[in-house]
Amino acid sequence: MIPTVARAFSNTARSNRHVAVLGANGGIGQPLSLLCKLNNNVTKLSLLDLKGAPGVAADLSHIPTSAQVKGYNPENIGECLKGAEVVIIPAGVPRKPGMTRDDLFNTNASIVRDLVKAVAEHAPKASIQVVSNPVNSTVPIAAEVLKKAGVFDANKLFGVTTLDVTRASTFIAESSGKPTEGPNYTVPVYGGHSGKTILPLISQAQPKTELQKEVHEALVNRIQFGGDEVVKAKDGAGSATLSMAFAAAKFADEFIQGLNGKSVTVPSFVNLNHVAGGKEIQKEIGAELEYFSVPVTLGPNGVEKVSSIGQISDYEKQLFAEALGELQKNIEKGVAFANAN
Ligand code: NAI
Repeated sequence: MIPTVARAFSNTARSNRHVAVLGANGGIGQPLSLLCKLNNNVTKLSLLDLKGAPGVAADLSHIPTSAQVKGYNPENIGECLKGAEVVIIPAGVPRKPGMTRDDLFNTNASIVRDLVKAVAEHAPKASIQVVSNPVNSTVPIAAEVLKKAGVFDANKLFGVTTLDVTRASTFIAESSGKPTEGPNYTVPVYGGHSGKTILPLISQAQPKTELQKEVHEALVNRIQFGGDEVVKAKDGAGSATLSMAFAAAKFADEFIQGLNGKSVTVPSFVNLNHVAGGKEIQKEIGAELEYFSVPVTLGPNGVEKVSSIGQISDYEKQLFAEALGELQKNIEKGVAFANAN
């Protein structure tokens, strides 16, 4: 059982990586911590939450994998973060039916700010992988905090948008009548991580797929609002947690593969002003957006470069035009919050 699950992540080259999960007792945090415990590249797993992290750690510690796991309460955050190379942040409140991700801003902005301040102090070289919503704003907040602390490295700061490509590949396989495992399709997803700012480029799906206009548009809408399906189905009990834990664990694993010297290209929400290839993306989209989700090539120092968008259809150009204004506002809101607080 364990080896099969663990094989979903890279376990070929073992390495001694230290991962910290902040918000580890939550709906995402618990299964995410489990998946990190199953990753043989992780030998140290530090879990933090407002309460309950020592219990999660005790539970996980009975699984016979390589990671030594320990849980911490907030007063010991320094000890939790010391030496961490990968810090995943799913701390914060999730959506309830009828809420947008932006509705979470008032609560989650300060949670992310304070946790990132602690990372800047105790693990200044760590990669920070922000799950907490609204990602379009929490990543700019994290960046501003790191800049103020003098430890900002755009090559190591990510908004985790893996769930969008996960959904895209599952939904397109389903709608094409193909098996979903594998995945059978890869669909690049650009933009941000909320509703209309999520920009799946089905015209670039691999393998290439021709869809009728209505089917294509319905699929785009489902990918953009896939999170709402889960929020509605959970009926007030939260948002995506299990698929999100899978997505965050996958991204962390891919980042670790990069650290281990394997070049991997995966999507993430990054700072275009400070990563190689970012300015070219800004030219392609015709806007100087500071943050954008793009396919990112990872290596030993984090981002090596981001890939250009290339040819897109007229329909996709229209989607881009509709998204940019909202994304810009979300980014500005995060920057303004971080600089005012
Ligand atoms: P949850 O409420 O089940 O868990 C959040 C955990 O964070 C709780 O255990 C809470 O005690 C902890 N927490 C809150 N403040 C903290 C602090 N200052 N320090 C340490 N821990 C703290 O919520 P869930 O469902 O796990 O969602 C977490 C976040 O992830 C939400 O903001 C949600 O919107 C976001 N999310 C992001 C997705 C993405 O694709 N990036 C997808 C789905 C959810």
